[in-house]
Amino acid sequence: MTKKIFNSNQFNSLFSMHNKVVAIFGGTGKLGEEFAKTLSNYGAKVYVLDIKNKTKKNNETFYLKCDVQKQSSINSAFKNILKKEKKIDVVIYNVYSKPNNYYKSFENYQLKTWKKVIDSNLTGAFLVSQTAIRRFIKDKIKGNIIFLSSTYGVVGPDPSIYEGLKPRKNIYGGRFALNTPAAYSSTKSGLIGLSKYIATNFGKFNIRSNVLSPGGVYDYQEKIFVKKYKNKVPLKRMAHWSDYNGAILFLASDASRYMTGSNLIIDGGWTSW
Ligand SMILES: NC(=O)c1ccc[n+]([C@@H]2O[C@H](COP(=O)([O-])OP(=O)(O)OC[C@H]3O[C@@H](n4cnc5c(N)ncnc54)[C@H](O)[C@@H]3O)[C@@H](O)[C@H]2O)c1
Repeated sequence: MTKKIFNSNQFNSLFSMHNKVVAIFGGTGKLGEEFAKTLSNYGAKVYVLDIKNKTKKNNETFYLKCDVQKQSSINSAFKNILKKEKKIDVVIYNVYSKPNNYYKSFENYQLKTWKKVIDSNLTGAFLVSQTAIRRFIKDKIKGNIIFLSSTYGVVGPDPSIYEGLKPRKNIYGGRFALNTPAAYSSTKSGLIGLSKYIATNFGKFNIRSNVLSPGGVYDYQEKIFVKKYKNKVPLKRMAHWSDYNGAILFLASDASRYMTGSNLIIDGGWTSW
């Protein structure tokens, strides 16, 4: 007779976020909202830290202002959470910065724009994870860090899907057409390297670090773009905002307890051809 490996209670506890404190940096955005809702539904106390002010509090989610470009702002975010909760278990780095002139062509890209993207998407990730790791070690917490990368951190953007797109009103008042700048790809690849460094150097402290690399979410992009995008995806659709909720719960919970240094790619198969 085969023995059951999991009974339902064990299975529930595998994904349970009860007694876990989660900090989501860059969490007032669209995916951040999904992640906060999911993790709080599974029992976590969630703190959302973002440069955008949001004082809303719902269920177990709390919003605090934080600019990851400033160490002092990161310090006070940690201080505020620790004052109330005494510990942080999971840190999710979800920040995505699109400063002025973000969509300029590579040939015309300005150094100051490049630096702003690097500062928020990558340097902020270094500062946040360094601050978290110091605390995990001090408190002897089995800390868990999750970085949000992208398929474009793994493979280059395909320029053909952007061909013929016109500047749109919702992209900086119609000055630019949709594209994926090199600064985005570079920071998203950088996060994979940073995560692997943390995994190999801090595994001995029971600290885990993984990356979630999503594919593009449908967000009312032009029809022609969506058509070309779908053609590149074996599942023949763009993602829904909720498509990554299972992955974030898996990575944040004990269900992934033996996983570190990995990159979980969820992209409808985009990177599989
Ligand atoms: N949406 C997609 O199609 C998609 C696809 C692949 C990967 N991703 C990744 O998923 C993550 C979330 O994406 P999203 O579409 O929800 O993004 P979003 O733009 O809705 O959210 C990003 C958040 O980061 C915050 N932020 C920017 N600069 C900051 C700073 N200096 N300090 C603190 N917060 C700052 C913004 O205010 C915003 O709330 C990003 O890291 C993105 O690269 C998204």
